[in-house]
Order: sequence, then C-alpha cells, then structure tokens
Amino acid sequence: MKTVTERIRQDAEKFTPEEDQALRLGGEIIRGGGLVAFPTETVYGLGGDALNRESARKIYAAKGRPSDNPLIVHISRFEDIGKIVSEVPENAVRLADAFWPGPLTMILKKAACVPKEVTGGLDTVAVRLPASAAARKLIEYSGGYVAAPSANRSGRPSPTLARYVQEDMDGRVEMILDGGQVGIGLESTIVDLTVSPPQILRPGYVTEEMLEQVLEGVDMDAALLNEDSGQAPKAPGMKYRHYAPKGELVVVEGSSDRVAEYINRAAEADRHAGEKTGVLGSRELLAEYRADVIKCVGSRGDEESIARNLFAVLREFDEEGVTKIYSESFSSPGLGQAIMNRLLKAAGHRVIRV
Ligand code: TXA
Ligand code: MG
Repeated sequence: MKTVTERIRQDAEKFTPEEDQALRLGGEIIRGGGLVAFPTETVYGLGGDALNRESARKIYAAKGRPSDNPLIVHISRFEDIGKIVSEVPENAVRLADAFWPGPLTMILKKAACVPKEVTGGLDTVAVRLPASAAARKLIEYSGGYVAAPSANRSGRPSPTLARYVQEDMDGRVEMILDGGQVGIGLESTIVDLTVSPPQILRPGYVTEEMLEQVLEGVDMDAALLNEDSGQAPKAPGMKYRHYAPKGELVVVEGSSDRVAEYINRAAEADRHAGEKTGVLGSRELLAEYRADVIKCVGSRGDEESIARNLFAVLREFDEEGVTKIYSESFSSPGLGQAIMNRLLKAAGHRVIRV
C-alpha cells in the first residue's frame, strides 16, 4: 500500500482549502474502511471507522497489536456520545464539562452498535473527545466515530512527530496527516466511570488532583501503584511492556550528586564492556554527565517539557544505536505520575536507588 502524507496545522481557527481538502480525503478513507494517522494534542493516533469491525481488524494488524487490547473511540462533539454508550452518567457530563475537548478518556458501558473487535470483547467502551481542531475535523468528516490507538507499532514509544509515524506505519496506512510535534506528548488520562468511586486506569495530563476537583472521589488502579505486585491492570493495554527503546534503560533515583556520580561510573564501566552508553537527563543536570550520547529531555522547572519530549528522546537513543541508557527520575505529585508511569514501563521497572 502506498502511504500519502499531507501537511496540516493541528490547531487552526480556519483551515486553508488545501488543509480542508486533506482532512476531507482522510475522512473519506476512514468511511471507506481505510486507515489514517493523525495528530491529537496527546500523541498521533491511527484512525479507522469505530463502527466497522473490519477497520478494527486492520488497526490491530497495522500495529501488530494483540486484539484483546481495546481501542479508544474518538468523537468530535459531546452529543455524539449517546450513540456508542448505553448510558451517560452524571459524572461523565461533569468530566466532559471540565476537560473535553481534551486529554481525558472515559470508560463507559457500550451500546450494541460498537463492535466487540473495537472493545477487545469487553462490554465497556473508551471514549475521548480530543482538543486538536484537525483531529475533530477529521472525525467529523469520517462520520463521527474514529477508533484510534497511538500510531506506533506495538511495543514502540507512542509517536509525537509524523516522522515517527512514518517509521512505524509507512506502507500500512493509506494516509498520514502531518501536523508537526504534538503539544502534550503522553497519552490521555483514562478514567473508568463504570465503578464507584471512579478509577484512574492510566495517568496522564489530567491529574488525580484535577479529577478530584470534579468528582466526589477517585481511586488509582491498585496495579499501577504497585507494578511489581504482578496484579493485572484494569486497562488491558497497561499490562504490556510498552514504550520500550531497543537499548536497556535503567532509572537512577537519589540526590542529584549521587545520581550523576553513579551514572558516570556505571557508564564508564559499560563503555569498557563495549556498550554504547546514553544519559536521559534534565537541563539542570546535563553538564554533570559523561557518556557517549547525552540527551536533554526538558527542564525540571517545566514538567510539561519533559512530558512532551520523553518519547522522542527514547526513539533518538535507538536511532543512535545506544545500547545502555541511564535516566534521571522525575517523580512528582502532578504530571510526574504520568511521566514516571511511562518511563518505568520503558525501563521494564529497572530502578536503582543511590
Ligand atoms: O491519548 C490517547 O489516548 C491516544 C490518542 C491517539 O488519542 N490514544 C491511545 O490509544 O493512547 P491506545 O490504544 O494506545 O491506548 C488505549 C488504552 C489501552 O491501554 C487500552 O487497554 C485502554 O486504553 N482501554 C481501551 N478501552 C478500554 C476499556 N473498555 N476498558 C479498559 N481499558 C480500555
Ligand atoms: Mg498506545
């Protein structure tokens, strides 16, 4: 299959005729049962018609993803939710008022028209109304319901640039809409509204504190707090080893002096053993490190910069053939929860405390 790439802006008050044309064409491809990769504010998505089981099968095949791992259905207007869920609880209305359009996905009871292929056999469905104007336009032109996982091959970091979508999906999708770098860089927060109190199944840009201001109470899926417990997470996708770079990644935790000292010593030993070494660090500490490849992920004073760059930096280590990567830790109560969730997965939970 030949993949066509078209450039669009993610957020425009008004799209140019060329952009509108590209978005319309994308919509037609999805209506016709094909696949279109597109930018959202979180990461790039791989879109197909959410009400067509054949499209769902194509998505799983293009990603190389196990079909028990359900897809998120994207809508362009809140009113459209009624068709795909069997009831809209009060909490869903409140969350939509507060965070939609935006980086939040709600798990609700599904309506009969949503194929089991999309929900991985579950009787619930994940729904999201993205903020990116281009994404919403595409969804509208596609008929209103677009199933879209992140546009990476299964197990690779989610793509934050069209170049990474191309790397993973060239020849597997009809079209890639290139909208440049995404704004947030980590996938949406997932909250399950079919249980009481609601539960966070995947941390993201919308934090626990933000949800608590709208809901009466909210829990975190226990399996996320305790990832070494062997307990299965409730979002099927969270059980897979995601986001993994090809090199071995280790997170080093402790005071900045000790972290730098440990990493430099370990990297030197690795280099003698024939490894190509890398450090994933913050702007503040970058000058302290010695390794073959040193990458700045962002600034500790600006967590959003770390979220935005994390997946790209993991891919860059691969591009440069780094075999052993050391990372600082970025724990913090806010966005740090989502950042550490992805970083620890990428590291296969290898953490060294110094
Ligand atoms: O930000 C995002 O959410 C991006 C963009 C493209 O919108 N999409 C995304 O999709 O991250 P994906 O497929 O990579 O991740 C979807 C996650 C998986 O962990 C999946 O198991 C979970 O959502 N999920 C989907 N439906 C579910 C359901 N009914 N119950 C529990 N978890 C569900
Ligand atoms: Mg994904």
